[in-house]
Amino acid sequence: MSAIIKDAKRITTHTIQEMKQAGVPISMLTSYDYSMARILDAAGIDVILVGDSASNVMAGHETTLPITLDQMIYHASSVVRAAKRCLVVVDMPFGSYQGNSSEALRSAIRIMKESGAHAVKLEGGAEIRESITRILSAGVPVMGHLGLTPQSIYKFGTYTVRAKEEAEAAQLLSDAKLLEQLGCFALVLEKIPSKLAQQVAKEISIPVIGIGAGPHVDGQVLVMHDMLGITNEFKPRFLRKYADLYTVISEAATQYISDVKTKEFPSEKEAY
Ligand code: KIV
Repeated sequence: MSAIIKDAKRITTHTIQEMKQAGVPISMLTSYDYSMARILDAAGIDVILVGDSASNVMAGHETTLPITLDQMIYHASSVVRAAKRCLVVVDMPFGSYQGNSSEALRSAIRIMKESGAHAVKLEGGAEIRESITRILSAGVPVMGHLGLTPQSIYKFGTYTVRAKEEAEAAQLLSDAKLLEQLGCFALVLEKIPSKLAQQVAKEISIPVIGIGAGPHVDGQVLVMHDMLGITNEFKPRFLRKYADLYTVISEAATQYISDVKTKEFPSEKEAY
């Protein structure tokens, strides 16, 4: 284990920037609740993202658009109570920062004050520069997010790979440089060609964390429910499943139901 990580009592935005400089890969997973965040933190995850993917995997919505600021704060405060060591970053939900930088600042301050999280993440580039600048000026660290930005799904129309064409790739590179220049401490790149992600990671000094962006970046992020195999119908090429919890949970539930119905459970030993 690298000395940077071993010596870190608490992972901060500075720690992950040092990790990039030292070539130590950054691990990030999503989490939305206390119990799961406790397991990830104890396992040694560097960053927990309280993603607005909670809208999909926790609430069952088709997109990330419906989740509210209050709901994100509820999820984030549950995660913060569990996170003893890792950095906690919270997605600013759709509608809380796009149109108006004063509202963006108010939303970011609510997240930081009410949840105790350490940083916020916003989707977009030049079009949200005022919001990013305003939030940063209040001392709130900002993580950027470019490429496939799920809050704009109705603009894109699909969840396919972004920035395959030259013009979109050039725009993404220019946005990445802008986010670095504005003062973002890190950047998520979602579902873009590996070569482009590699170029961005090389050309900017802040850590680049990829999801479906290939191996040549500074860290990786996955949605926890996907990598644990809970969302068993979701199978994009970039996803590696580290467990099949859908089957584990389903089998446990089936066994429990059977034990209750046959009066196998509880036994005398399990009674008072
Ligand atoms: O909301 C989320 O889970 C995310 C990750 C996909 C990066 O933004």
